[in-house]
Amino acid sequence: MEIHVYRDRDAIGQAAAAVFAAQVLAKPHSVLGLATGSTPLATYDALAQMCARGEVDFRHVCTFNLDEYIGLGRQDAQSYYRFMEENLFRKINIAPCNCHVPNGLAEDIDAECAAYDDAIERAGGIDLQFLGIGHDGHIGFNEPDESFSKGTHLAHLSRMTIEANRRFFASAEEVPRTAISMGIGSIMKARAVVLVVYGEDKAEITARALQGPVTPRVPGSILQFHPRCTVMLDEAAASRL
Ligand code: GLP
Repeated sequence: MEIHVYRDRDAIGQAAAAVFAAQVLAKPHSVLGLATGSTPLATYDALAQMCARGEVDFRHVCTFNLDEYIGLGRQDAQSYYRFMEENLFRKINIAPCNCHVPNGLAEDIDAECAAYDDAIERAGGIDLQFLGIGHDGHIGFNEPDESFSKGTHLAHLSRMTIEANRRFFASAEEVPRTAISMGIGSIMKARAVVLVVYGEDKAEITARALQGPVTPRVPGSILQFHPRCTVMLDEAAASRL
């Protein structure tokens, strides 16, 4: 695990975008694993600007997002599909048919999860995965648990996650309680991972995930075992290391 500390959010955004752009330049048909939440926004902005300047070309790139709320459709304002469209897909030259987000309206969730894992396999596996981390250590929607999850599955959101994500909804009651999420096994299969963390409020979980015991009680701690994991922190998030 390589840990880099940056001045602020924008500096991390530029640095993480450079890693993703380098991946795409080296392999135009790259398969990228993407995330939602506030953490990737600076990176997505930087990638959109690089694309507008002609520095990176997403024409052949394929993406798989980590997760989607169950019960929300693509056009729901709070769906992760919509988030991705607004914050990245519409701003770069990627083909919409190459952008994969689990279908939160699938009637058969287990079949949707299996099909999602199959699609990742058929695409050749994820080359580079972007990750943020929740205050309870979750990655994707893999919450603290007794064991590490394997593939894409139905995930239950913890109370802490519902509370953290209510800012995107009118009230906490409206936050879906379940989601389809890639598993810890799916994330660990990515050939390389970039974990980005900002802010003092995540300093403690950052220290537990990066330097504490590897345990499913802190799902992000598994990244200590990933052979190619780059961690990008601002000074506040790194303050308890
Ligand atoms: C969400 C997402 C995660 C994300 C995390 C942190 O619930 N499922 O993929 O990394 O919470 O979100 P934020 O970046 O807004 O702090």
